[in-house]
Amino acid sequence: MKQECWAIVLAAGQGTRLCSATGGESKQFLRYRGAPLWWSAVQSMAASPLVHGIAVVFPPGRMEDSARELARLTAAADPGVPVLTAAGGLRRQDSVAAGLRALPPSCSLVLVHDSARPFASAALATRLLLRLEEERGNGASGVIPGLPVIDTIKRVDGDGACLETPERASLRAVQTPQAFLRAALEEAHARAAAGGWGCTDDASLLERCGMRVLVAPGEEGNTKITRPADLDLLLPRAHPLPCCGYGYDVHALGGSRPLRLGGVPINGGCTVFAHSDGDVLLHALMDAILGCFGGGDIGRLFPDNDPQFDGFPSPAMLAHVLDLAGGAGVRIVHADLTVIAQKPKLAPQAAQIQENVARLLALAPDHVGFKATTEEHLGFTGEGKGIKAVALVSALRG
Ligand code: CTP
Ligand code: MG
Repeated sequence: MKQECWAIVLAAGQGTRLCSATGGESKQFLRYRGAPLWWSAVQSMAASPLVHGIAVVFPPGRMEDSARELARLTAAADPGVPVLTAAGGLRRQDSVAAGLRALPPSCSLVLVHDSARPFASAALATRLLLRLEEERGNGASGVIPGLPVIDTIKRVDGDGACLETPERASLRAVQTPQAFLRAALEEAHARAAAGGWGCTDDASLLERCGMRVLVAPGEEGNTKITRPADLDLLLPRAHPLPCCGYGYDVHALGGSRPLRLGGVPINGGCTVFAHSDGDVLLHALMDAILGCFGGGDIGRLFPDNDPQFDGFPSPAMLAHVLDLAGGAGVRIVHADLTVIAQKPKLAPQAAQIQENVARLLALAPDHVGFKATTEEHLGFTGEGKGIKAVALVSALRG
């Protein structure tokens, strides 16, 4: 895209509708994922490859502490684009105007985004900008996200008496970010200032100027944190992050422990050297689970010089690891496991191993993959000296 786009992130409101539930703190400064809420909006706008920079608009009385917080956050996790600040105004539209004044002359497209919508995706911003680029030739000055309305909407008078019922199919509940040609947005704001117009979103100013603004599909999850009940959406588990962990383990064949894999005794008389029960597959799986939350490895949790773990059953170790994962807010959703061994032949027991691992993880069997392979007589597994296993675990972390 030839045009340079910047995002204005609005964080200068008072959050009056939420104040009673937040002890007076404005909603954009509530903590969410270890940072103030407004940082999520900055991060998602910055993650769009089409966004060149961001102007965050803060309340005039909080410029200094906000700039300090911004410097701390960008030092810890660089958003990759410049982030400027501006002091907001009394009304939302005054804050947008302040953001516009802070943008560099090279900027020709603008996204206006409420910091109170922390769940908007970068993909949404990108999609709106691409659509605007496509439609500007047809006279569009803006593209905004919206969803069909579920409730029937009434227009009422001051007493609450119904005046009119607009046809629902033609209604859209609109969201931010809203994408505009900078020149059009500036002109609409200038005319609003001159005419004393008020608005709750920028698109309505452009509409009033007779400019063409298109509604594109919004995102279901793009809620604006507004009322006390919305605060539940900011609780740690409401929006878990996907993560994965990798595990690898080896045991030498021989020794005294009858081979077990995934908690299943394996036919064929193979034995392994091990301090615990030597279930190489569950050991790799446990390391993969621990990897999902920086939990170290099983050697640290169950030292092989500790007599209490002599012959210890791996399913019991796994239960402990799952407890730790649960405590860290990690929910396992899938495991893909491979055993690498020249012998014994595992195909006859593959389904049994898959089902037992699924049972131990409390997952449906098709959320566990189990495979076995040889290394074509190469290396220590090929020579029948050892057996190894690898595991990849996918999880959601709240
Ligand atoms: N906003 C702003 N400057 C204002 C008013 C609002 O930057 N003078 C921002 C808010 O911080 C918010 C977004 O505009 O991210 C949408 O506004 P809204 O949800 O109405 O937030 P508040 O105005 O803060 O809340 P309330 O209306 O409950 O006071
Ligand atoms: Mg408001």
